[in-house]
Amino acid sequence: MNSDFSEALIVQEVSPRDGLQIEPTWVATADKIALIDQLSLAGFSRIEAGSFVSPKAIPALRDGEQVFQGIRRQPGLIYVALIPNLKGAQRALASRADELNLVMSASQTHNRANMRMSCEQSLAAFGEVVRFVEGSSVRLNASIATTFGCPFEGRIDEDRVVQIVEAYLELGMQGITLADTTGMANPRQVERLVRRVLQRLPASALTLHFHNTRGLGLCNVLAAYEAGARRFDAALGGLGGCPFAPGASGNICTEDLVNLCAEMGIATGIDLAHLLTLSRQLPALLGHELPGQVAKAGRNCDLHPVPDDVAAL
Ligand code: COA
Ligand code: ZN
Repeated sequence: MNSDFSEALIVQEVSPRDGLQIEPTWVATADKIALIDQLSLAGFSRIEAGSFVSPKAIPALRDGEQVFQGIRRQPGLIYVALIPNLKGAQRALASRADELNLVMSASQTHNRANMRMSCEQSLAAFGEVVRFVEGSSVRLNASIATTFGCPFEGRIDEDRVVQIVEAYLELGMQGITLADTTGMANPRQVERLVRRVLQRLPASALTLHFHNTRGLGLCNVLAAYEAGARRFDAALGGLGGCPFAPGASGNICTEDLVNLCAEMGIATGIDLAHLLTLSRQLPALLGHELPGQVAKAGRNCDLHPVPDDVAAL
């Protein structure tokens, strides 16, 4: 296993989906397209550009078709769509999504709150999706929400997570995401579970999805990285959150993650200066400040002029 081991860290940008799904202010379709087009120039290999879920559940992303139609696709960049069921898969394929991200929670209660169905019903729906996409070139990734803890049920049994990983692999999923929906993970737990899961699939097929709800987001990234994980979701500005998880808040912040990697000498291929420019435009677009820190503080290399009275000493 892990024959594709390399040092580089792959960032999948999820602000157009996880980021915007919880925003109370409507973001115009043209603004979503402009954001994705700008993100497409930052060096990402993967962008989750939207979701095809019930428009009643997530009104903020009800324009998925127009967004996927309107974006300027960069060659080789994978544009992902989150879906809950067959209807979502049909809409996503008609909109030429490159990859479908199917989501179910490890917690039955959160799955009912988020998807209005049991885990068994979600898995049955995923079976329909697998049959539907057979013969097409679309890729399938499946996420396990609340992997590291549930805001309703608390602790999640690690054996249950591993069983879901195995069920996903049996269904034919090419990629799997372990998602910390409300930032309940801690680094030791992350390291343990990542090591277990990497015995079942290569690092190139595993994504970690952390929220910074309790300030542990980047600690968890490093723990996962040390355990062999190489793919991470993150959102520009630290946007994000699941509207059906009480207390949910932002994803780990993309530019803070890219800055961490740059400082530590871990390659991401992402243009940090470009990201900072984009992130600093978000408050005007969304009408509020963002949690991201490097956009406010600047990079380590963004030095300040020495005050005259200090220079004169
Ligand atoms: N896209 C668009 N509409 C959809 C849909 C999809 N993927 N899936 C179902 N619908 C529509 C149905 O056609 C039906 O429409 P109607 O009322 O006009 O007849 C309506 O939604 C209800 O369908 P039903 O199958 O009974 O769904 P539900 O109300 O039990 O909700 C989900 C189930 C999964 C569709 C809904 O809970 C959902 O979209 N959840 C996603 C939440 C999310 O995105 N969370 C954040 C990301 S993790
Ligand atoms: Zn999330």
